[in-house]
Amino acid sequence: MKEALQNIQRTADELIAKATDAAAVDELRVRFLGKKGELTAILKQMGKLSAEERPVIGALANEVREAITADITRRTKELEDAALQARLAGEEIDVTLPGSMPAVGKRHPFEQVLNELKEIFLGMGFDIVAGPEVELDHYNFEMLNMPKSHPARDTQDTFYFTENVLLRTQTSPMQIRTMEKQQPPIRIICPGRVYRSDAVDATHSPIFHQCEGLVVDKGITFSDLKGTLELFIKKLYGEDTRVRFRPHHFPYTEPSAEMDMSCFKCGGKGCSMCKGEGWIEILGCGMVHPKVLENCGIDPEVYSGFAFGVGLERIAMMRYGIDDMRLLYENDLRFLNQF
Ligand code: DAH
Repeated sequence: MKEALQNIQRTADELIAKATDAAAVDELRVRFLGKKGELTAILKQMGKLSAEERPVIGALANEVREAITADITRRTKELEDAALQARLAGEEIDVTLPGSMPAVGKRHPFEQVLNELKEIFLGMGFDIVAGPEVELDHYNFEMLNMPKSHPARDTQDTFYFTENVLLRTQTSPMQIRTMEKQQPPIRIICPGRVYRSDAVDATHSPIFHQCEGLVVDKGITFSDLKGTLELFIKKLYGEDTRVRFRPHHFPYTEPSAEMDMSCFKCGGKGCSMCKGEGWIEILGCGMVHPKVLENCGIDPEVYSGFAFGVGLERIAMMRYGIDDMRLLYENDLRFLNQF
């Protein structure tokens, strides 16, 4: 019997050491220590032993049980540790790997130029105002000295909702809205979207942007207009840029002018950008018509002012040498990433 017990212990030792998972270990526990197990089977035969042998074999059987139990506990712990290590190794995170960069966008070239323009005028003490894109005929035309029959309306065909409600064709109505609300001194710019019934091509779009400017105060003269606009252009395009004023007509200014700047590309020699002229038309401007001041309750005997309107697409295209306006709207990243 003693031998049988020693055999059991040896076999159990070997098999437990070889077990590779918790289930296998548990099977061995049942096989050796369970109610129908091998050790129990031996203990059941103890009755056959002599009184002297019984305590000796009993003690040995206990030792074997304890040894096998200890084996099982140790092996179970080993297997658990190994499983944990394997899991940790599988989950390993390399914190030194570079992260994946989210794609960060940047400002649209158009907005970059707009921000520059705003900075320039803020620096000269202007406020920035915004107005409605759905406008009344009253503000878009009537109050600007363009009554229903005025031929200047024809150059600004637009989208009407009703006879009196339309998409604004210019930012000039904001002159009126500002002067109605506020007495001089007034110094504002108003950048924003405008609409005209034009077909899309390299230089036209039914939706485009303008920036209006208005200064009204005592003693404002045409030289204030020239000085302000020349400074604006030099800040935007560089100190060497020259400007010139050509007489023009706008119903809401008197006198009126168009301002040209020396071509940013050839410096005035003449190239494809300026169509050989050396000059590029950049904005419309003039002294606010006395009638317009009067319309807004401002006394033209006391106050005078100047106004201008500049196309923002134009400004951006010249700033970056872009020759097709459509590129500004298409949001093609290959194009946009160049700026
Ligand atoms: N509103 C004009 C246009 O859309 C631009 C303009 C010209 C605005 C002269 C003005 C101005 O304020 O004084 O073409």
